[in-house]
Amino acid sequence: MNILLTGGAGFIGSNLAQYLLKTYPNDKVITFDKLTYAGNLESLKSVEGNSSHIFIKGDICDAPLVRKTFKDYDIDAVLHLAAESHVDRSILGPKEFIETNVMGTFTLLEEAKNAWGSGSENVFVNVSTDEVYGSLGKTGAFTELTPYAPNSPYSASKASADHLVRSYFHTFGLKVITTHCSNNYGAFQFPEKLIPVIILNALARKKLPIYGDGLNIRDWIHVLDHARGIDVALRSGKAGEVYNFGADAEWTNIDLVRFICSELDELRPATDTRPYSDLIEFVKDRPGHDQRYAIDSSKAKTELGWSPENDFKTAMRSTIKWYLDNLDWTERVKSGEYISYYAENYKDR
Ligand code: NAD
Ligand code: TYD
Repeated sequence: MNILLTGGAGFIGSNLAQYLLKTYPNDKVITFDKLTYAGNLESLKSVEGNSSHIFIKGDICDAPLVRKTFKDYDIDAVLHLAAESHVDRSILGPKEFIETNVMGTFTLLEEAKNAWGSGSENVFVNVSTDEVYGSLGKTGAFTELTPYAPNSPYSASKASADHLVRSYFHTFGLKVITTHCSNNYGAFQFPEKLIPVIILNALARKKLPIYGDGLNIRDWIHVLDHARGIDVALRSGKAGEVYNFGADAEWTNIDLVRFICSELDELRPATDTRPYSDLIEFVKDRPGHDQRYAIDSSKAKTELGWSPENDFKTAMRSTIKWYLDNLDWTERVKSGEYISYYAENYKDR
């Protein structure tokens, strides 16, 4: 297969590119990425020079370039991950989220439909999030039948994209599959999301900002379990269907941050011997902060034969070690644009 992978220079995309190229040496992966602040060729270093990998710098809103890419590389599957992905940024500036997540997805759908023609068996996998389902109370978990109730501009833009994807199946017969995944952790996550922020701030002995009371719950999954899920959805999923991926690892933010601190105390004891958890500080809550996410993956398990392979604590420990071993990566990916954004918006951190 010639697979068009959008957003392949980002966190999940770069892990997925590495996974696909290793697992299917006869497939071609055409990574298409705008290289925003969150996309970095540094994350694709391990596949540099691999003749099955092609990188194209481009915007998914650029219809002529997307069209040319479908034609030049005879694309027969799309794994669509390109997105603006950070909730906090969507609160400060939603416009880019609408442009990339809604208009970009629309552009890709149009170009796939036109390039493949009616009756094509080629598959378009739309990688979405559990955040489109909104917030849960103390019990229960999101299933594929949970009604949409997005609460942030980020999740609203992803929900809009999902609806467009669905409509292209029902109206035009495009073979689409949508996946919803819970919060990912692992190597190459941009240092603005909770886990890398905590690891890197702790090492720099900066404060560890916890929004609100720290009792919000997220359901964590290792990025490579998610990557395998996307791949199995492409190869074994049914067109028009939706699959949820999660790994039953619910943590309150405060417990997770304390766990990371205790791991760091062992792996890289602070020179002043004070525990890293001393740096925890409760800061102003995120507006509209969803209380709890939890995913029910029964459908992916029974219909796709997928299940997560990584135990949370073991894989989190490896993730922390990865950051300790790759501090140069974190320094290089923090571009000037990111630094000025951070300085402007998060003066207190
Ligand atoms: P990320 O922010 O790390 O990467 C996004 C990538 O998309 C970057 O490489 C960026 O350069 C690229 N991009 C942004 N705008 C683009 C445009 N207009 N044209 C082309 N490329 C563009 O995000 P991530 O965490 O890897 O998430 C990838 C996908 O998975 C997103 O669609 C996200 O909604 C979804 N998702 C993420 C999580 C998570 O926990 N991170 C969970 C569920 C679903
Ligand atoms: P984040 O990594 O931004 O993912 P998402 O908002 O998509 O779930 O945040 C994970 C959780 O951690 C979320 O409840 C917000 C919280 N959080 C903090 O408490 N402090 C931080 O510095 C960040 C970035 C997030």
